[in-house]
Amino acid sequence: MASIVLIGFMGSGKTVVGQEIARRLGWPFVDTDAMVEAAAGMRVAEIFARFGEPRFRALERDAIVSVSTSGTAEDAVVATGGGAMLDPENRRRRKEIGPIVWLDADVESIMARVGSDTTRPLLRGADVGARVRALLLERESAYATADHRVDTSGRSVAAVADAVLTTISPAGACG
Ligand code: S3P
Repeated sequence: MASIVLIGFMGSGKTVVGQEIARRLGWPFVDTDAMVEAAAGMRVAEIFARFGEPRFRALERDAIVSVSTSGTAEDAVVATGGGAMLDPENRRRRKEIGPIVWLDADVESIMARVGSDTTRPLLRGADVGARVRALLLERESAYATADHRVDTSGRSVAAVADAVLTTISPAGACG
């Protein structure tokens, strides 16, 4: 099996589920947000605040290029930031990495998980619920380009990890 790429909205569980799957498979876990932070020497929120979203997106693109071209992607579980798949070039490149699983979640689950999070710049401001709904609508078609979709709403990390592994295994593949 090639590396597994997890995509989806903030709060869909990409990081925690990715870490759980990596632990079960004995594979390394790679997080593109962490790669961006390491390259910039600062947290995502600080990159947004000091240099703006375009700079963050450029660093995110570099991280995805690096995962798809270096050996990093060999047998690894890769979690991408929630906006990474909006970039057509990133969508093309991720196909070189491995099967893509969209971790989907309803607005209620997202709000419960990250509604009051202060580390995600795109979720700051007055009406976070409206913001989440608008961004979800805007991004749905990009997420839907994944090979597989797993609904994480109201499910535990272990249950989602089970579902991902079942979905991508040849017997459970749903295309
Ligand atoms: C973003 C999601 C974040 C991070 C940045 C932008 C987005 O990652 O990349 O704050 O555009 O949805 P998570 O999805 O891991 O929260």
